[in-house]
Amino acid sequence: MMLTREEQAMLDGEHGPGVQKAMEIIVALARIYRAERLVPVASVQVAGVSYKNLGDAGIQFLEEWAEQGARVKVPTTLNPAGMDLDDWKEIGFSEEFAGKQLKVIRAFQRMGIMPTCTCTPYLAGNVPKYGDHIAWAESSAVSYANSVIGARTNREGGPSAIASAVTGRTAAFGYHLDENRISEHEVRVTAALDDYSDYGALGYWTGKRLKNMVPYFTGIRTATADQLKQLGASAAASGAIALYHVHGITPEARAKSMLAEDHETLEFGEEEKKSVRGELSGEVDLVVFGCPHASLEELKKIASMVSGRKLKAELWVTTSKPVKALAERAGLKKTIEEAGGRIVADACAVVAPVKSLGFKSIAVNSGKYLWYLTSQGYKVFFGDTEKCVQAAVTGRWEE
Ligand code: F3S
Repeated sequence: MMLTREEQAMLDGEHGPGVQKAMEIIVALARIYRAERLVPVASVQVAGVSYKNLGDAGIQFLEEWAEQGARVKVPTTLNPAGMDLDDWKEIGFSEEFAGKQLKVIRAFQRMGIMPTCTCTPYLAGNVPKYGDHIAWAESSAVSYANSVIGARTNREGGPSAIASAVTGRTAAFGYHLDENRISEHEVRVTAALDDYSDYGALGYWTGKRLKNMVPYFTGIRTATADQLKQLGASAAASGAIALYHVHGITPEARAKSMLAEDHETLEFGEEEKKSVRGELSGEVDLVVFGCPHASLEELKKIASMVSGRKLKAELWVTTSKPVKALAERAGLKKTIEEAGGRIVADACAVVAPVKSLGFKSIAVNSGKYLWYLTSQGYKVFFGDTEKCVQAAVTGRWEE
């Protein structure tokens, strides 16, 4: 494998122990995946931020690396944390959890990482360009960057993303290379895709079938950026899909042919759409929107649906801090709060210790929330946005 003079110097420890450790990780990965070279990255997004997942060993690891002089060389943002960093007390998180979570954030900040705490960094200032090599870790953001933006990233692990941020490099393999971005699986969509949840169902179904392949969707005439983020997030959750193309819509599929001549075809019709479902009926404690983190447009839609209604179940919309601030300015936060809901920034229902708040049954319109919350043992209801709002009003779900 070829290293430039600067890369070799980092590996030899000339830039200090923190950088050396980071370069050792990058080079080890390059060897495992038989990369011939490293490539400079334009930005990094780090996952593994919630204290719920990191524990004390994670804090110690981060603090030691920061102490060794690890500092980021490129714009680097953080995935959601285990709580809203400002409103945690009001929501009900314990002092003990908050203290540990804030320690995690301080260690990242010491390395120069921006505490954005969102899985939609592209809505919070970390926006790559078409063709940029990047090193992102959050699976839904990886999918969005690769597919909707046309940037190039593998799904990084927590330490490898930090190592890329500290060295400014990643190993050139996987989705950094043209040949791995071609699809061999057409998914012909004949079902109607109306609500956000329909894109979640399509992603969920596709991920379960194609695992870590690259699907090429045909039959989708239009899709908003929010619908595409839902499609990719759900496919990345039920499978490990990090890149997809939509014929005539996503940028690489518009620029050139991304479907191999010799390909398999699957069909996603109404029956397949109906097959993606959660529990059929029961009490609902919590309704959560915003997986991936809600855009301003989604918040506007949810605010208009709850406006003037009184909610029986708790309702959260999870989002990033900048989008929450805009929602506040636009009066959407007030509308949602008057109905009895709340906007939760920095966190989400999967990475926050939601069980400790007493919630057991959750209604969602996201295929990714459906996948993870089910695997965490909650009773999960899945349906379109209006049905979820209705469940928040009545406190019940009926199929
Ligand atoms: Fe984001 Fe949490 Fe969903 S990290 S994609 S809101 S599970």
